Amino acid sequence: MEKREELYKGKAKSVYSTDDPKSLILVFRNDTSAFDGKKVEQLDRKGMVNNKFNAFIMQKLEEAGVETHFNKLLNDQEALVKCLKMMPLECVVRNVSAGSICRRLGVEEGLDLNPPTFEFFLKNDALGDPMVNEYHIQSFGWAEKEHVLKMKELTFKVNDVLKQLFLDGGMLLVDYKLEFGIYDGRVVLGDEFTPDGCRLWDVETRKKLDKDRFRQGLGDVVESYEEVGLRLGIKFD
Ligand SMILES: Nc1ncnc2c1ncn2[C@@H]1O[C@H](COP(=O)(O)OP(=O)(O)O)[C@@H](O)[C@H]1O
Ligand SMILES: [Mg+2]
Repeated sequence: MEKREELYKGKAKSVYSTDDPKSLILVFRNDTSAFDGKKVEQLDRKGMVNNKFNAFIMQKLEEAGVETHFNKLLNDQEALVKCLKMMPLECVVRNVSAGSICRRLGVEEGLDLNPPTFEFFLKNDALGDPMVNEYHIQSFGWAEKEHVLKMKELTFKVNDVLKQLFLDGGMLLVDYKLEFGIYDGRVVLGDEFTPDGCRLWDVETRKKLDKDRFRQGLGDVVESYEEVGLRLGIKFD
C-alpha cells in the first residue's frame, strides 16, 4: 500500500490517498482541539493511543455486525480505511446529560436519559456545528432519507454494544459522536471512536476519563485515555 498525497488535514487527523482509489490512510496526530478549534495543544502519545483505541473499538463493532471503514493498523499513528463519501453530519447519542445539551436546555449534568436521546449536528466549523433536524437534512440534501434512518439505527446499535463494553470495564458511556459515509451504496461507520469524541465516566466515582479533561483543564488527558484502553484490555506498546 503506497501512501500518496494529503487530501485533507483536519483538527486531529490527516487523510491521505493511496494507490488504491477505494482506500485511504488516516493519520492520527497528537493535535488536540476543543471549542471549535479555539483551544489547541500537542499531547504526547495521543495519536498512537487514539489510533489503537479506534482500531479496537471498530473491530468490536464489526464483530457485532456494524460495518465500519476500518481495514487495518499500518503503524502507531496510521490506519488503512475504506474511502467513504462522508455525509456532513454528526450523530450523537446521549445516555446521561452532559456538555452542550445542559447549556442548551438548562438541565443539570449527570441525569440518566431514559430513553437515550439522539441528535444530528451539521459538520461545519465556521458555524460551530449547529444542531439540525431530519427536515433540514432532507431539505438541504445533506443525506438521503433512507440513509438518515440507517444512521440512526446504527448509532443506537453502537450504543447497545459499547455501553456494555465500557460497563464491563467499570465505565459509563455518557455520550458519543459518530460520522457515517457511503461505500458501494451502503451506510458505513467512518471517522473514529476514541475518548476525543465521547464521554466516559468511572461508574463508581464519576471521574471524567475523556476529552472533558482537556476542555476543562483537568490534566492527565492522554493518561486517562490510556487508562480507559487498559480497562478494555487494549495494549498500547
Ligand atoms: N473513511 C473515510 N473516508 C473519507 N473521509 C473520512 C473517513 N473517515 C473520516 N473521514 C473524514 O476525515 C476527516 C478526519 O479528520 P479530523 O481531524 O477528524 O477532521 P475534522 O476537523 O474535519 O473533524 C474528517 O473530516 C472525517 O469526516
Ligand atoms: Mg473530526
